[in-house]
Amino acid sequence: MSEHARIGIVTVSDRASRGEYEDKGGPAIEAELGKILLSDWEAVGVVVPDEPAQIESALMDLADNEKCCLIVTTGGTGPAPRDVTPEATEAVCHKMMPGFGELMRAESLKVVPTAILSRQTAGIRGRSLIINLPGNPPAIHDCLMAVFPAVPYCIDLLEGPWLETDADYCPSFRPKHAAKKSPTQS
Ligand code: MTE
Repeated sequence: MSEHARIGIVTVSDRASRGEYEDKGGPAIEAELGKILLSDWEAVGVVVPDEPAQIESALMDLADNEKCCLIVTTGGTGPAPRDVTPEATEAVCHKMMPGFGELMRAESLKVVPTAILSRQTAGIRGRSLIINLPGNPPAIHDCLMAVFPAVPYCIDLLEGPWLETDADYCPSFRPKHAAKKSPTQS
């Protein structure tokens, strides 16, 4: 039986947090993860305004209290004055994982030249991997598909739950020595 994974989904948007429009990013991420993952998981969703303190406390709560092995954000990664998601991510992370942002920008640049405007990053807080995704739903798909092949092994290295992806939709990669833990191992 696979271990249960909790995945935090943080929508960063002034208007969605005020209820001025429906949050489309969070549900798009949840739907996409539903296609990617075969192993057991549940979403823990939060909507916050583009305020550094509120983004930081949402990320800390999902990592430290909700014990989410993976936390993804959507929105606030552009150059506009109120786009502060990458800074809030960096403020709460113990180490940064720059390869995620590099790969997401490279993939998105194949689709739109404005992908260079994205400042998406990723990092580790405790045992949680935090990844910034862009705000618009098609871009969420492009970016998740690009980085997710490496996510299960990253979660293994953080001693989190075993994540299994649908090999026909989004195959993941683990080095040969990365054997699945037996149920008797803690
Ligand atoms: N990536 C993809 N794949 N598709 C897109 O349309 N939009 C870009 C970029 N990355 C885009 C993309 C634009 S215009 C911006 S400003 C940044 O993502 C940041 O978007 P955000 O502030 O909504 O997160």
